[in-house]
Amino acid sequence: MTIRSSIRFRYRGETVELSNVGPMDTLLDWLRLDRGAMGTKEGCGEGDCGACTLAIGSLRDGHIVYEPVNACIQLLGMVDGKEIITVDDLAWGGKLHPVQSAMVDTHGSQCGFCTPGFVMSLFTLYHQGGPVDRRTVNDHIAGNLCRCTGYRPIADAALATCLGQPNDAWSARVGEATSHLADLDDDADVFVGSDAVFFAAPASEDALAALYLRHPDATLVGGATDVGLWITKQLHTLPKIIHTGRIKSLHRVAEGVDGLTIGAAATYAEAESALGGIDPDIAEMLRRLGSKQVRASGTVGGNIANGSPIGDSPPVLIVLDARLHLRRGDTERDIALEDFFIDYGKQDRSASEFVVRISVPRLADDQVFRCYKISKRFDQDISALLGAFRFTVKGGKIRDARIAYGGMAAIPKRALAAESALQGIRLKDSNAWQKALAALQQDFQPIDDMRASARYRMETAKALLTKALIEAAGEVSNRTRVVGTRGGELESVA
Ligand SMILES: Cc1cc2nc3c(=O)[nH]c(=O)nc-3n(C[C@H](O)[C@H](O)[C@H](O)COP(=O)(O)OP(=O)(O)OC[C@H]3O[C@@H](n4cnc5c(N)ncnc54)[C@H](O)[C@@H]3O)c2cc1C
Ligand code: FES
Ligand code: FES
Repeated sequence: MTIRSSIRFRYRGETVELSNVGPMDTLLDWLRLDRGAMGTKEGCGEGDCGACTLAIGSLRDGHIVYEPVNACIQLLGMVDGKEIITVDDLAWGGKLHPVQSAMVDTHGSQCGFCTPGFVMSLFTLYHQGGPVDRRTVNDHIAGNLCRCTGYRPIADAALATCLGQPNDAWSARVGEATSHLADLDDDADVFVGSDAVFFAAPASEDALAALYLRHPDATLVGGATDVGLWITKQLHTLPKIIHTGRIKSLHRVAEGVDGLTIGAAATYAEAESALGGIDPDIAEMLRRLGSKQVRASGTVGGNIANGSPIGDSPPVLIVLDARLHLRRGDTERDIALEDFFIDYGKQDRSASEFVVRISVPRLADDQVFRCYKISKRFDQDISALLGAFRFTVKGGKIRDARIAYGGMAAIPKRALAAESALQGIRLKDSNAWQKALAALQQDFQPIDDMRASARYRMETAKALLTKALIEAAGEVSNRTRVVGTRGGELESVA
């Protein structure tokens, strides 16, 4: 297999080739410090404020897709094979881009610090092509913070411009851009650096397995939405980085009759329509997971592998009885996802072993699913608590219950005592629910931290189970929500 000792990407109409890329170099530092392109701002340096948003163009099924990315936590090596567009280059032929003009017309900028990031988010929305409504715009800019203008004029700028097929310099040269990216799409294994300090991006699972065996101390990186912060905030030194993003098979999301398989490097953006298709509550959870920028880079595999007790996808996937496929060298194995999480910071994964894919069964006709995320902010906030529930109901009775919570223990964990208390009860018998609610006290001694007290977590866990049972019983379901109404299935009366 060919090894390439440089990264290559498109920037300002040229192919840039770099062979001196450090494993911890960020895209933002390269732009601002190496190229002097100061339009892209640095605010928080941790993916939260969106000031550093730029657009990254990638080929997907032969078509170019522009997505917003936080450059502050994107490693430079990760942009191999992509196109970078920043706010510095948006005006074309002496004219502002349509989204920039609209921001002027709607008075969408005051101090201006957030403006480059907003403009780039709007640029990617503009390139989604298609009329947008206010909710779509709000979801799209949820990862951009503005302290002075307020969001209405910015959303108005989007509504005024994102009307249909894009008509700008990028749409005019889409064929040319696509063919440049196709030229960069080789199957070489990227390895930049030395055996002691390197950025590597293998092109196949075999090459990844072999490299990780040789370097068990290397850090695997999917989207770097966690690892990026280890560098910028925790100031860790990570001399060996292995990026999984170039491996096409790990991006695959396959939909079968019984379920899905999601490659470990598939981003939320790539997986969300299939995962969200399992149940509208999963689509709602994904809408609130991070921001558009985080979902464009972050992976489901990374959300599992990081072992966080408050990751949003693990409780949902555990309740769906998902299985994890792992590989070390030539040896592959397959475990129930719930068995992967052993204790805080401890997972069932040996040195040099990596997540290959996740299998997620679909819901059967007699199964009711619900999940609810509780966080301090509605958008782009880590959960204080997430409850996921699957009830198998036959003849009005609960034949089987699976319940899992994030934020209630040191790991995402099932509520086994509550599950068995629900076994065999009549779904509509709310008196019988009480035993399960009380059993949650056996299942958990909740964690207590600045996100939520132990008491709040326990009370809320009970409330979420009650809500799931109320909705599953279908009695007062129209009173249980103000958002996430399951596509109108549960209309709000608030
Ligand atoms: C602003 C912001 C908001 C966020 N909001 C949320 C949120 O609402 N909900 C939520 O759950 N998370 C949230 N996160 C956390 C993060 O986005 C998720 O955990 C994401 O899924 C991590 O995926 P990644 O690919 O970016 O992981 P990375 O940062 O690349 O890696 C994370 C961990 O997984 C390991 N890893 C990656 N791939 C593999 C593999 N194939 N095999 C073995 N190990 C692997 C890495 O070594 C590392 O330990 C947020 C992050 C940010 C910056
Ligand atoms: S600087 Fe705040 S998201 Fe990058
Ligand atoms: S215009 Fe000042 S932060 Fe948005």
